[in-house]
Amino acid sequence: MKRIVVYQSGTGFTAQYAKWIAESLQCEAKELKKVKANELSQYSRVIYGGYLMANMVSGLDKLKKMNPKDLIVFSVGMSSPDSGLEKKIIEQNQLKGIPFFYFQGGVKMKELGFLQRQMLKMIKKSLEKKEEKTAEDIKMLKMFNGEMDGLDVRAIESLVRYCK
Ligand SMILES: Cc1cc2nc3c(=O)[nH]c(=O)nc-3n(C[C@H](O)[C@H](O)[C@H](O)COP(=O)(O)O)c2cc1C
Repeated sequence: MKRIVVYQSGTGFTAQYAKWIAESLQCEAKELKKVKANELSQYSRVIYGGYLMANMVSGLDKLKKMNPKDLIVFSVGMSSPDSGLEKKIIEQNQLKGIPFFYFQGGVKMKELGFLQRQMLKMIKKSLEKKEEKTAEDIKMLKMFNGEMDGLDVRAIESLVRYCK
């Protein structure tokens, strides 16, 4: 089976997961902006990864227009993995029937564009204002401050197993 990992990453977290997956499956990982539809048609399986923005998987619409065969999708966001979040992403991105995997990335404020940074700053401020912070809120604040991220190579195991 000829397969490829295609990805769109703003600050590197999705790129890292894409590279880990490609290494594990011994195939190539390529940025979405460098991939053309006629090239993609050579692959019998396409694994696509995009970062999460307001629960939308970035680049997915563009990728779908290239008619990829046997599509598998993963997305990388700052939220902790949970089945409720995955359900929402599947619904909002019309991923029913398409195998989907969610991985946790992190936040690199300094590498974001102005508008994106402002949006995250607003979320950060509202978390800071909360009087009773949950463990998840505290974790999020650490991510916003660049003190931690959720990158974990073990997270790709379920996707890799599915592909093999
Ligand atoms: C404007 C904006 C909206 C975001 N919305 C979400 C979201 O809805 N859910 C989530 O988990 N992460 C969200 N994130 C966080 C990114 O998905 C996260 O930082 C991810 O690791 C970025 O991956 P990248 O390094 O490949 O760009 C958002 C980030 C930005 C800048």
